[in-house]
Amino acid sequence: PRVLAVASEMSPLVKTGGLADIVGALPGALAGEGVETRTLIPGYPEALAALGAGETVLSFDDLFGGPAWVHAGRLGASIVYTLVAPHLYAREGGPYTNENGVDYPDNAFRFAALAWVGAQMAQGALADFTPDVLHAHDWQAALAPAYLHYSGRPRPATIVTIHNIAFQGQFAKELLTELRLPPESFRMEGVEYYGAIGFLKAGLQLCDRITTVSPSYAQEIETPEFGMGLDGLLRARADVVSGILNGVDEDVWNPATDERIEATYDAATLSARAKNKVALQKRMHLDADPEAFLLGVVSRMSWQKGHDMLLATLPSLMARHAQLALIGTGERHLEENFLAARDAYPGRVAVWVGYSEDLAHLIQAGADAFLVPSRFEPCGLTQLYALRYGAAPIVSRVGGLKDTIVDSNEMALQAGVATGFQFSPPTAEALDIALRRAQEIFRDKDTWRKLQLNGMSTDVSWRHPAKRYAALYREAIAARS
Ligand code: ADP
Ligand code: GLC
Repeated sequence: PRVLAVASEMSPLVKTGGLADIVGALPGALAGEGVETRTLIPGYPEALAALGAGETVLSFDDLFGGPAWVHAGRLGASIVYTLVAPHLYAREGGPYTNENGVDYPDNAFRFAALAWVGAQMAQGALADFTPDVLHAHDWQAALAPAYLHYSGRPRPATIVTIHNIAFQGQFAKELLTELRLPPESFRMEGVEYYGAIGFLKAGLQLCDRITTVSPSYAQEIETPEFGMGLDGLLRARADVVSGILNGVDEDVWNPATDERIEATYDAATLSARAKNKVALQKRMHLDADPEAFLLGVVSRMSWQKGHDMLLATLPSLMARHAQLALIGTGERHLEENFLAARDAYPGRVAVWVGYSEDLAHLIQAGADAFLVPSRFEPCGLTQLYALRYGAAPIVSRVGGLKDTIVDSNEMALQAGVATGFQFSPPTAEALDIALRRAQEIFRDKDTWRKLQLNGMSTDVSWRHPAKRYAALYREAIAARS
């Protein structure tokens, strides 16, 4: 099958989170399954700079207020289309917000444009590529199935993948006509969502198949607690919803070949890993202390990720002589509280506010345990990287975290299958208990080493997920013919 993926991020061209890693990895992962994936992304300045001048394959005189072009470029073995529309994407800030973190006022048009062009490309606008499937990722691409639905012309199968249901893209109903949506689309069976236009809602309502990034999250979003208003729709469409776990890009996240870390290692040379702990302590100004229990965090700082719980348990963790190495950016108050914690525990708490691929890799390679205390987590990638790197994941028991980490309970330890620690409910108290449990097992070097080796031998590759996506594409195509 031929697939056109539409998304607002793609590693390594533009990334704010895990979405980019997945969109970047899918073309390569699926090639082995006989799927040709091409990807359409917005022509953000950094993406255009990284891809270089491409060939113009489409042009539009007026795309929501200005001229636009589609350039074809190459990333590895796959073709990437960038939507070059200076009036929409040539900006100083990030992909969604300006330099001050405020949403761009015209985001409705910026992403309607992406979806609209994706829909044109799905219906034969390109001379050499007519996809069998349009695969839209998250709300930024989710209007594409709606445009296809209302076009009244033959269309490919459509799939929407939910990477995070917390971001839905809601806009005023007055924009309907300007967004090139027909009047009849503004109803419950269409794009209408609580009196407004819902981009994600529209896609979920009007696509053929819905996926999300773990089996547990697929179940959770059908409940009011996790569905964030869309649970009713998802229950009604439960027969087309599935959960497919994300894989890890093993070229990028491999401790045996990683050039960003101090010393490479694998399961057979695990003792070399200690050099990374030394390097991490030095690099982040932690006390040189090979025996300290060193906890790593690499994350966006937001309510979803639960770091307020870590702040609450920090005094207790510090009383047990542990260390913390954390990098992240996001909500100002969390950043400030962690910086204050760093000042309160010099040499024991290291905090770096910002984005750094280098440090993200070194933390995975040097920390003893890796913490992901999310309140909800569609899949989560950092705990998968931690498995590969031999940092025992400590995670809350939700979504993809629940599906990917085997808790070190008595039975799992006896059976020799444990890979980390789970806690529930997501509270500071439950986290504190999990941290104590982890620290206790950490003192038992043999058991700890077994945990690390179990994690490192867990298959977190794309092999299995790629087969599931390929099967889903084939089913969705078959259902339309
Ligand atoms: P989410 O997409 O919800 O943020 P994921 O766990 O799926 O969570 O993906 C997060 C991705 O972003 C990972 O690749 C992680 O390494 C990366 N990341 C997050 N924060 C930082 C940071 N401050 N510096 C470098 N990489 C980061
Ligand atoms: C979202 C989710 C995260 C997931 C990622 C990639 O950002 O928050 O859990 O891993 O998308 O699917």
